[in-house]
Amino acid sequence: MFATRFLDLPPLLSASGSVALPGSKSISNRVLLLAGLSAGTTAIHDLLDSDDTRVMLTALRTLGCVIEEKGAALLVTGLDGRLDVKEAQLFLGNAGTAMRPLTAALAVLAATQGGRFELSGVPRMHERPIGDLVDALRQLGCDIACLQTEGYPPLRLGSGAAPTGHGLRTQAPIRVRGDVSSQFLTALLLALPLVAERHAVTVEVEGELISKPYVEITLNLLERFGIVVQRDGWRAFTVPQGSAYRSPGSIHVEGDASSASYFIALGAIAANDAPVRIEGIGTDSIQGDIRFIQAARAMGADVLSGPGWLEVKRGRWPLQAITLDCNHIPDAAMTLAVMALYAQGTTRLTNIASWRVKETDRIAAMANELRKLGAAVDEGPDWIAVTAPVRWTAAAIHTYDDHRIAMCFSLAAFNALAGAAPPAPVRILDPQCVGKTFPDYFERLFSVVRTDTAHVPVITVDGPTASGKGTLASALAKALGYHFLDSGAVYRATALTALRLGVGTDDEPRLAELAAGLDLHFSADQITLRGLDVTEALRLEEVGAMASKISAWPAVRAALRELQLSFRQVPGLVADGRDMGTVIFPGADLKVFLTASAATRAERRHKQLISKGISANIDSLRADLEARDARDQNRSIAPLKPAEDATLLDNSALTVQASVDAVLEVWQRRRPFASPSA
Ligand code: DC
Repeated sequence: MFATRFLDLPPLLSASGSVALPGSKSISNRVLLLAGLSAGTTAIHDLLDSDDTRVMLTALRTLGCVIEEKGAALLVTGLDGRLDVKEAQLFLGNAGTAMRPLTAALAVLAATQGGRFELSGVPRMHERPIGDLVDALRQLGCDIACLQTEGYPPLRLGSGAAPTGHGLRTQAPIRVRGDVSSQFLTALLLALPLVAERHAVTVEVEGELISKPYVEITLNLLERFGIVVQRDGWRAFTVPQGSAYRSPGSIHVEGDASSASYFIALGAIAANDAPVRIEGIGTDSIQGDIRFIQAARAMGADVLSGPGWLEVKRGRWPLQAITLDCNHIPDAAMTLAVMALYAQGTTRLTNIASWRVKETDRIAAMANELRKLGAAVDEGPDWIAVTAPVRWTAAAIHTYDDHRIAMCFSLAAFNALAGAAPPAPVRILDPQCVGKTFPDYFERLFSVVRTDTAHVPVITVDGPTASGKGTLASALAKALGYHFLDSGAVYRATALTALRLGVGTDDEPRLAELAAGLDLHFSADQITLRGLDVTEALRLEEVGAMASKISAWPAVRAALRELQLSFRQVPGLVADGRDMGTVIFPGADLKVFLTASAATRAERRHKQLISKGISANIDSLRADLEARDARDQNRSIAPLKPAEDATLLDNSALTVQASVDAVLEVWQRRRPFASPSA
């Protein structure tokens, strides 16, 4: 995941290929809770690994559930409805799917077995209503205190006193409002089997139940855990007497249908040749958001589907605006609002009042951010209407700590397909908020999108040996979420291969052959050559010296050119070396030429070697550096020199962070966005 404050998406032009979806958040957290309350061990396959599931897992562990990884499965050994731990403070982040059901389960358990639990979350969690659930649980006889504001978390459940013995009032129906969040009903249904031993327990829904498909998921999963809820339409639900959670032994979590919506939209907008194939969800899905497909089709998507897969291509283009009651697909409907940027006409999404109480006020947030791109937007208490921009503007999208805003706005980067001229890059602020449900969303998106290489930004950092360019360039790449090319490593890898095979420094044709056939791979913390880890070997002094010599051969340089160019990929590249700005990427968007005095560089290299336990002499290091500078500067081909339009930076007296900040500041000024926090 990116550790960046912002992620700039270059203009994108097409999409195709296959993506695997992470597990469904709604299913994952329900299954975790049910497994945690059941007797015995449940093996959960394909569980979502994200912020929201992590808080649920931590809570279950705190409550005494045993949780272990076994191969690809997670084994959860449940409490069998009995509280081992009777007092705990649980921090639940911004996970509504953890807060609501844990509130119900622990309130009921504390009332019947004694206990005292405090449930809290991030500040936004404390603004998300839970009063209707608290009211329902109080009717039942549970002792609940709202610790800050009545009707909102943080909550205290139970007083710590021993249970009174007369149990809970389960004989009369419990009434719960259904028109603010369906999660209140879900929470009750998940928890009530805990007290249905002697009597059936009925819940009656007051008001129109919203987001019904999420209640379907709850009923479906309860059934997998041995509890068959009887129902009277959407009005009343009865947990039969004698109900007890029975682990299914093993359960598979299907891909997240809301997460699928971004890739379905991607196919509809940008799969203008081969389709985007989505693995992990299909026609057999139990999630309501799968019905997003119908809405996407109505806008123009061409969708094929089968069990566990979807294939989406562009159908009608431009897309067609729709008017739709989105009550059944509240989360995925946000994706429709972004598809509206590519549609003819005005798209109206109605019956979405629940957007106002989600991770952020999503109606206000979507309206603000869509307007920044140039769209015309109207909004009301429970609706939004979006008309595509006449003129697109490059925009920095504020994400409000809301994963779905970050994910759906990434689709705005295809504006060239809607005629934006020039095409506009899109900045996503705080992109790591996708970690709530889809930690590697952007990596998976980038694996199926394409653009003209010319759209992909490049920053070059050239400079003499030991100037710190590698450190600076890799820090810049991290800060920007860009790819990183250490071009010295490709010369070093050629040198290492030559040394191992005994090829001489003068054998230009053979060296060029070796360079052309390098099987070299870079990952986050390792470089492999023919499958072997050479990260350390490449840094050896003798390899560096050999690299400096063989890099003077034109045939070697030519043979390594394609490999270096291939690093220029979405969303961008930071490349360091000697000729990045002059020869390999002469059109780079920013060129930095980094220097430091020979004395400073010799000192740094000395420290580096000593810290690795290698003895070294500072004077001879300096002499070596100067000799290598002379060779790199004086060779006839691609000599080391600043590009004419390079920004010169002498970092002799700068910390790494100060150098990074200095370059980022220059970069910010060149980007078409107002400021990183705009
Ligand atoms: O940056 P470095 O020390 O890892 O580079 C090793 C040698 O490779 C260096 O002495 C010269 C050569 N090189 C080059 O000629 N052009 C580049 N872009 C990068 C490195």
